[in-house]
Amino acid sequence: MPVVYLDNAATSFPKPPAVAAAMLRYMQEVGASINRGVYASAQDAELTTLLLREGLCRLLGHSDPAHCVLTAGHTIGLNMILQGWLKPGDHCLVSAMEHNAVMRPLHALAAAGVQFDRIPCDRTGRLDPAGIRRLIRPNTRLVLLAHGSNVSGTVQDAAAAGRICQEYGIPFALDAAQTAGHWEIDFDGWGLSALSVPGHKGLMGPSGIGALLLSPEFANKLTPIITGGTGSASDLEIQPSYMPDRFESGTPNLPGIYGLQAAVEFVEETGIAALRDHETLLTARFLERLRDIPRIRLAGPWDPVNRVGVVSVDFQTIDNAEAASRLEHDYGILTRCGLHCAPAAHKTLGTFPQGTVRFSLGWFTTPEEVDAAASAVAEMVCIAGTLEKR
Ligand code: ALA
Repeated sequence: MPVVYLDNAATSFPKPPAVAAAMLRYMQEVGASINRGVYASAQDAELTTLLLREGLCRLLGHSDPAHCVLTAGHTIGLNMILQGWLKPGDHCLVSAMEHNAVMRPLHALAAAGVQFDRIPCDRTGRLDPAGIRRLIRPNTRLVLLAHGSNVSGTVQDAAAAGRICQEYGIPFALDAAQTAGHWEIDFDGWGLSALSVPGHKGLMGPSGIGALLLSPEFANKLTPIITGGTGSASDLEIQPSYMPDRFESGTPNLPGIYGLQAAVEFVEETGIAALRDHETLLTARFLERLRDIPRIRLAGPWDPVNRVGVVSVDFQTIDNAEAASRLEHDYGILTRCGLHCAPAAHKTLGTFPQGTVRFSLGWFTTPEEVDAAASAVAEMVCIAGTLEKR
């Protein structure tokens, strides 16, 4: 039985072959750190790191590679924004679709006196940007939104949210976990102060690396939550104030940097428009097939356009965990079931506490795989119906 990987929202798989090749080259032939040595292999590492920052900036619409901070992953990037910015007495707005990578740090900050509100979203997970205006207070210091939902695939109108934040002079941060590498992102055009991305999802790189892009104004005022050796200004025992060293202490994940650089090159060569078209076409095909299947509920929008290829199904006659297990064992289809670390999103979508079975598509997903998934869902529902009648 062939394996059908439909868990790209958790992590993309497979990766472009150049990713593993670049990581292997680093491990076997380079091996040096950045900012420390000046020998040839150290310069190779330096150049690859710079190429990565430049590639990420081109992809994400940021004009200054020095403000592209490489992180140990997206959750760290989000913590750097929240913990480095919010102080007791500050108020923060997030959407009603957030992941725990935002909600857990926010709850920890709330225990220390930070206040927050959730901007309501409708039953498909869509946020009306005007809702931001209604919740802004004099002490609102940050608006942070999940750009694309990891449960429903719903993509928010970040440009409209950015305009409102600019009007009120409030920093605007975007969590692009599900949209980087899938969707056009325009850091400068949307008036973003901060944007965090993982390397291992839509960008198709390895795990354990991500990026935090900052506006110069926000970076100047953001407190680093980690300080330490940077290989620069070594005569000083205080953290350098310049970028990106201010936020990059310790030897970085160099195999990750090489892998992500190759991945970003692949994404750029393929083009976001082609990546998005492929995903939209496959999502439309999958949704069309699902529409005809009784006794399932879609948690999210039926419209394939303003969404990414994350499709959550709530089986009405089969336990969702059992459905996911049968999908794997009877059909070779790999999905993720449950609450996807996003209880708030499931509450908004009306799928709490039962959760959903999530099918998430990627660049390497084929139409045949999507059809196989839809047929498996139809067959499982039909079998459950037959058993019920007995
Ligand atoms: N947040 C990731 C997911 O949705 C890990 O699966």
